[in-house]
Amino acid sequence: MNWETLKDYDALSARAASLLLDAISGSPKLVLGLPTGNTPVGMYERVVADCRRAYRCFRDVVTFNLDEYVGIPRDHPGSYFTFMQQHLFAHVDIDPANTFIPNGRAPDLKVESERYERALRNAGGLGLTFLGLGSNGHIAFNEPGTPFDSRTHVVALSESTRRANSALFLDQPVPTHAITMGITTILESREIVLLASGARKREAIVRLRTGEQSAAFPASALWSHPSVLVLVDEAAM
Ligand code: GLP
Repeated sequence: MNWETLKDYDALSARAASLLLDAISGSPKLVLGLPTGNTPVGMYERVVADCRRAYRCFRDVVTFNLDEYVGIPRDHPGSYFTFMQQHLFAHVDIDPANTFIPNGRAPDLKVESERYERALRNAGGLGLTFLGLGSNGHIAFNEPGTPFDSRTHVVALSESTRRANSALFLDQPVPTHAITMGITTILESREIVLLASGARKREAIVRLRTGEQSAAFPASALWSHPSVLVLVDEAAM
């Protein structure tokens, strides 16, 4: 696992954006794994700004989002579908047919999970995946206790995760369940970049740095991957 400490959130976002855009320049048909949450917002802002200059950045890129809530409409302000439109897809030249997000309204979520895994395989697997970090160590929506050999599946969200993600739900309850790539699904990405910013992530970063691998701390699974870069800002260190 390689670590880079950036001065602040802006520097972290700029570094993440340049990693993403360099990867696309080197491999225009890249398959990207993409996160949501507050942390990657600055990265997406920079990617969008740079793509306005460099015509056709995303023309042949394929994206798979890590996760989605169960049971809310696609156009709900809290859905990850909406998040991705707002922060990236509406502003770049990506082909909507190449953007995959689990369907949290599918009638059978097990079938949907299998369909998602199949779509990933058909696309050739993840090339580069960006991850955020939950303060309890979750990656995507793999909460503590998730087995490392998990694939795309439905999860019950912990109270702390629901609280942390409540901003976009205003006075409505945050969904109780989500559909998420599993830990093995993520670990199959050829390269992984984990982003962590701010004092809220400090405890999780301390725990990650111990190197101890345990299902009680999902991000620790990343230690078994050959190519992980952790971008962390000073406030999170
Ligand atoms: C949600 C997402 C995760 C994300 C986490 C951290 O739970 N499902 O993929 O990493 O939030 O979010 P934030 O970046 O807002 O701290």
